[in-house]
Amino acid sequence: MDRREQPLNGFLHRFVPADAQQQTAEQETLPTLLLLHGTGGSENDLLELGQTLVPGAALLSPRGKVLENGMARFFRRLAEGVFDIADLKQRTDELAGFITTASAAYHFDPAHVIAVGYSNGANIAASMLLLHPGVLSAAVLLRPMVPLVPEPLPDLTGIPVFISAGRMDPIVIPHETDRLERLLRQCGATVTTRWHSGGHALSHEDVHEAKTWLQGRK
Ligand code: MLT
Repeated sequence: MDRREQPLNGFLHRFVPADAQQQTAEQETLPTLLLLHGTGGSENDLLELGQTLVPGAALLSPRGKVLENGMARFFRRLAEGVFDIADLKQRTDELAGFITTASAAYHFDPAHVIAVGYSNGANIAASMLLLHPGVLSAAVLLRPMVPLVPEPLPDLTGIPVFISAGRMDPIVIPHETDRLERLLRQCGATVTTRWHSGGHALSHEDVHEAKTWLQGRK
């Protein structure tokens, strides 16, 4: 997997096509996982996680375009947990455009895209749900915060969302997770939240629970 894809809509990214054999064996359309890394990450970070979560699924993994002291992110922030909302909205629009372009370039079904985001990547995935309902068919949000509260709220009826949070997370305090859960429910999403005793870093437990949740959605 050391092939380099040409940038699309200005996004450096990796794309791994769905495994046709697996798809035939399971007699279902595998989703495309949109993998969104955390601050300082890259398009390579979550490929292995994606393969573990839904074996054989197509993987679309962009690198965030914003640089903060050399670290890639998906949108600007003014301070820890204080987001530049105008930039967030613009970057969310750009990412939505990227998904559309990528679905045409790589021939995947744009109606079957599930976001898997960690930290800053989870925050732009939540922003995508709130600003562009219809782009994601489901989302796995690992250590997310409330990115913004749009007015009016979107209709996310029937959209399944999995949130994984750490009780000792110094970046995302439990209150933030509760707020996000409430906000998404208010929009009609079906939210499942799992709490861990750990902090901001992911554990095997997060992966196992997200995988089980994704399997249960079939
Ligand atoms: C963010 O800026 O999106 C959150 O604070 C998470 C992170 O540290 O990247």
